[in-house]
Amino acid sequence: MKAELSHVSSERPEPLDIVPMVHADITDVLAIERASFVTTWPADAFYNELHTNKLAHYYVGRVGGKVVGYGGIWVIFEDSHITTIAVDPSMRGRRYGETLLLYLLDQAIERGASWMTLEVRESNVSAQQLYRKYGFTTVTTRKGYYSDNNENALVMWAGNLRGDLFRARLEALRARLA
Ligand SMILES: CC(C)(COP(=O)(O)OP(=O)(O)OC[C@H]1O[C@@H](n2cnc3c(N)ncnc32)[C@H](O)[C@@H]1OP(=O)(O)O)[C@@H](O)C(=O)NCCC(=O)NCCS
Repeated sequence: MKAELSHVSSERPEPLDIVPMVHADITDVLAIERASFVTTWPADAFYNELHTNKLAHYYVGRVGGKVVGYGGIWVIFEDSHITTIAVDPSMRGRRYGETLLLYLLDQAIERGASWMTLEVRESNVSAQQLYRKYGFTTVTTRKGYYSDNNENALVMWAGNLRGDLFRARLEALRARLA
């Protein structure tokens, strides 16, 4: 029988252990960053986020001790923003990106956020699908936002994070992930 094409691995993935990012993770994070983005953050951008920016919260996901993904948020009172999220290309399709996104949402809510925004490239369909699954919708387009190829950014937004409807959605998705 012909195997069904899917972006999700049929193997049962090993659990992802998510912990706060520390200085010693930056080398591993940069390797995933370079494999994931055209325009990459330099080491000192991560350094500043970890050590200087009081609004920033960064996490790494480890499998068997190895960093396989990371993500970051800023939380400013009720407002939160996903600054970055990426999974090692060789480890994609195992629900690690989704697990990281759920963790970032949990962290933002725990820290008082009521809404979350992010920018995503218009061509980045995988990430957009992931965000839509978690209730994000496109609110506007920033024309030529990405300077490397002048690509537009979609600004996506999820609101009422503390409301019953959003919480129920998160719990249903969490149960499916487990
Ligand atoms: C976006 C990213 C983090 C997703 O991580 P991942 O671990 O591969 O994704 P998951 O296995 O957790 O997939 C979860 C959901 O993401 C979406 N998704 C992931 N890969 C997809 C693909 N190839 N095509 C369409 N949707 C996809 C789907 O909604 C999927 O859920 P579903 O299977 O129920 O439809 C990963 O592709 C990545 O690191 N991309 C490069 C960095 C990046 O673009 N970051 C976002 C910047 S805004």
